[in-house]
Amino acid sequence: MPKPLRKAILPVAGLGTRFLPATKAVPKEMLTVVDRPVVQHVVDEARAAGIEHIVFVTGRNKAVIEDHFDRQFELEKTLSDRGKTKELEQLDRDTPKAGTTSFTRQQLPLGLGHAVWCARDLIDDEPFALLLPDMLHLPKNGGKGCLAEMVEVYNRTGGNVISVYEVPEDQTNQYGIVGTAPTHGGVNEIVQMVEKPALGTAPTNLAISGRYILQPTIFDLLARQDRGAGGEIQLTDSMLKLMERERFFSVTFDGPVYDCGSKIGFLMANVAYALSRPDIAPEFRAALGEMLQGGNVD
Ligand code: UTP
Repeated sequence: MPKPLRKAILPVAGLGTRFLPATKAVPKEMLTVVDRPVVQHVVDEARAAGIEHIVFVTGRNKAVIEDHFDRQFELEKTLSDRGKTKELEQLDRDTPKAGTTSFTRQQLPLGLGHAVWCARDLIDDEPFALLLPDMLHLPKNGGKGCLAEMVEVYNRTGGNVISVYEVPEDQTNQYGIVGTAPTHGGVNEIVQMVEKPALGTAPTNLAISGRYILQPTIFDLLARQDRGAGGEIQLTDSMLKLMERERFFSVTFDGPVYDCGSKIGFLMANVAYALSRPDIAPEFRAALGEMLQGGNVD
């Protein structure tokens, strides 16, 4: 049995330039998908996978994320005075228990690899999950969350595990793509990893979806602070170096994946999550159907 996975990193220090002007004062991680901020959906996924401690790598203007995961005394008092127990219970379930979150700062957005490296002291010498909070993974029909599926594989294989999903062949040039080979244990091993390959050169159509389980040895490689594509410290560059001495396995996520850092991905996520919610789906489906058919939209 490999060393148990207890901790997760959520990097939330990016600038969200693809979503301006919404992200000028509000972090993109706080935009809501139905009635929960995007980052709350991802924290839910991490906790459902058994993660005990979450390290947020934040930046300037992101303090509201820290507030979101704190108690809100005045609100709780008002809800309590008004007898709103259902809402109070929901708030309580969503708030991480005392001492199970840490916040550290990435002073400059130097890239994802740098953001991960900023969490090194808080992770220490343990394997960790890395969840990109703008990528939402909607499990099919009440199935397991993406990270929970990965943890099952990790407990069998050890090493490093990356979640992938199928993207159209003519879009592989927009993603980090992996090449895989089957192993005896029935799990696919990653044998190749290429960032945004030119069309026609991708080894597969399996794109990295923003969920990773990594060994702490990655920190030594990130510490070199080598600049990669776009002058940023890229996580992929260090993972490629780590692949020379450690094994990487893939888990193919079966449900839809939404990039909420892009406008279309965010809008699609709102529709999909609303349609997956028993409390609002019937009314929303009817209203949406009417809108699409009834000429309210072009
Ligand atoms: P993105 O590539 O989506 O970058 O980062 P971004 O800056 O947030 O958004 P755009 O492209 O300008 O619109 C993927 C994840 O890594 C984090 C982001 O917050 C996001 O969750 N990140 C990225 C950092 O924490 N620090 C960085 O330096 C870069």
